[in-house]
Amino acid sequence: MCGLPLISDPNVIVGMDKPDDSGVYKLSEDIALVQTVDFITPIVDDPFIFGQIAAANSLSDVYAMGGKPITAMNIVCFPAKTMEINILKEILRGGMDKLVEAGVALLGGHSVDDNELKYGLSVTGTIHPQRVLTRGGAKAGDLLVLTKPIGVGILNTALKGGVLDAETALVAVKNMIRLNKEASELAQFIGANGCTDITGFGLLGHTCEMALQSGVGIKIDVSSVPVLPGVNEFAKKGVFPGGAHSNRDFRINMVEKGSTPDWLLTVLFDPQTSGGLLISAAPTRAREILSQLLNRGHQGAAIIGEVGGEPKEKIILN
Ligand code: CO
Ligand code: CO
Ligand code: CO
Repeated sequence: MCGLPLISDPNVIVGMDKPDDSGVYKLSEDIALVQTVDFITPIVDDPFIFGQIAAANSLSDVYAMGGKPITAMNIVCFPAKTMEINILKEILRGGMDKLVEAGVALLGGHSVDDNELKYGLSVTGTIHPQRVLTRGGAKAGDLLVLTKPIGVGILNTALKGGVLDAETALVAVKNMIRLNKEASELAQFIGANGCTDITGFGLLGHTCEMALQSGVGIKIDVSSVPVLPGVNEFAKKGVFPGGAHSNRDFRINMVEKGSTPDWLLTVLFDPQTSGGLLISAAPTRAREILSQLLNRGHQGAAIIGEVGGEPKEKIILN
């Protein structure tokens, strides 16, 4: 996206000058559009589940802004010459399943013939223009709530290598297909200062984005970061997706790792698909968001750190 001319429009609330999870455009004093597009290659063999994961992942960028998704369009790249059309039907059925759960209307879509299968959605939501939760909103003194455990990138790598048991694979799937809807609504209604979702850059990569755009420093209590079962064992054996290493190389200069072991540092950079929200809120509100999440069965949610003033744009692990 870099290098494109920026069109100045006073109604752009979040645009390409401050990249965020979604763009936000003000329509009136009461309502703004939240828009995003995302599509991915398959990470599981089951086409219905892949559709569910891709849709939850696409919806998440609207939830990460505190928005309410209302409409969506399918985006499909499908190898029609080599793959059965029933596979595509199952993918779309999986996507629709999550749209129904989210209360989102599917309006249409577009497909092209492509050698590599890809699926996702463009999603449009609404939000009050004064209630937009950006990555840049974290304030010194806030606590950080992470709403899902991390490690799906590592588990998916183990799955591809044929070394993941069925039970743990199912835990990973449940983590990915879980919508960030309730977490987003709680952040919005209880009140948060900033929010983003944890996806391809991993927990620390997205935490770095939040620190940079908010102009703050962040402390992470590594022992309180929720991790999916089996992840630490695979990490100690060096089972990582390539993205974990590149994420780490990209942002390691912002991180003071303290006594964090090397394998665990890489876990914290593990790229997530349809990961949780990272919500920055004043302490009483953060604790309320967490307790409501736990009440509603989001067992992986936790407070994982705090936002500080200095040193700015550094992530301190302890
Ligand atoms: Co995002
Ligand atoms: Co995004
Ligand atoms: Co995205």
